[in-house]
Amino acid sequence: MMRVRRGMERELALEFVRVTEAAALASGRLMGRGDKEAADDAAVKAMRTVFDTVQIDGTVVIGEGEMDEAPMLYIGEKLGTGNPPCVDVAVDPLEGTNVVAKGLTGAISVLAVAEQGTLLHAPDMYMDKIAVGPRAVGCIDLDAPPQVNLQRIARALEKAIEDLTVVILDRPRHYDLIKAVRQAGTRIKLITDGDVSPAVAVAFPDSGVDVLMGIGGAPEGVLAAAALRCVGGEMQGRLWPEDGGDIARAQAMGVLDINRLLTMEDLVKTEDVIFAATGITDGDLLRGVRYLGDKAKTHSIVMRGLTGTIRFVEAIHRFDKKPNYVGPKRVKRGLESKNNLPS
Ligand code: FBP
Repeated sequence: MMRVRRGMERELALEFVRVTEAAALASGRLMGRGDKEAADDAAVKAMRTVFDTVQIDGTVVIGEGEMDEAPMLYIGEKLGTGNPPCVDVAVDPLEGTNVVAKGLTGAISVLAVAEQGTLLHAPDMYMDKIAVGPRAVGCIDLDAPPQVNLQRIARALEKAIEDLTVVILDRPRHYDLIKAVRQAGTRIKLITDGDVSPAVAVAFPDSGVDVLMGIGGAPEGVLAAAALRCVGGEMQGRLWPEDGGDIARAQAMGVLDINRLLTMEDLVKTEDVIFAATGITDGDLLRGVRYLGDKAKTHSIVMRGLTGTIRFVEAIHRFDKKPNYVGPKRVKRGLESKNNLPS
């Protein structure tokens, strides 16, 4: 009997991991160097190079910016070999540029690919978000006070409210939110940057985090929603414009009602979505890149919405076989290197 295949071929999942691995390997080399642009640039170039080897007819819907402001991975750019399937691509080659620049925790390289026309075209502006894993689906309401959400989530997870951990970006705009969560008695993990990684981690009970709350990037919100779509979690969001320019850009990208509560259905319309991420620095869910001399080790997650399969992929990359992806500084060995040692 001929099997009828549904959606994107499952083999694509591994192809997409290769893309985030390449970006992580390239930008991880620049950890702690204080140069976030260089770290981002390395990730973008590596991601772009590998993407074109993948059998898709992709269009970037969430990327590095508009065509005139980003040389690569700009919104509208075509990716892949140009053969079907026709897909929307959301990328953040380096999510957490400051994190890598300072060598802090939680930077990842991340992408989501879905059937064409199914990912929200989120402008580069803020979004208010709340995200939880599968056991707390149906319990959240972005418009309810934090205490109410936390009580409902605690009940769903069969935990005391004091044992929940909420991740919040450490920003002055979150002063009231942090105060309310503290009043509820709930544990808080304040992060300096990078809210995609914890928004995915809330779906994994042993990650140590249960809820993401607060205002972060809208594009990052769509990426996190794609991951939660794959694992059966939930996110709600609402665009958080800072001025009239943000409102105009959102409307130009198709979000006509700026105040609308965005549900999973609005953020990612389909189950036919693949999410992949590779750790650059250590995080709640993924370990950062380990450079081992002539090779490096990466830790990734890849998930497919149609089947709900979640894979953690640990990979060893040999630099002698992958010079284009990684751009390593060659370490000379043996006599040659000894002769070159400064006296
Ligand atoms: P970059 O990778 O572009 O530096 O963004 C990281 C990030 O921390 C996101 O994870 C988060 O959603 C957003 O920036 C928060 O924005 P802001 O730093 O302006 O509060």
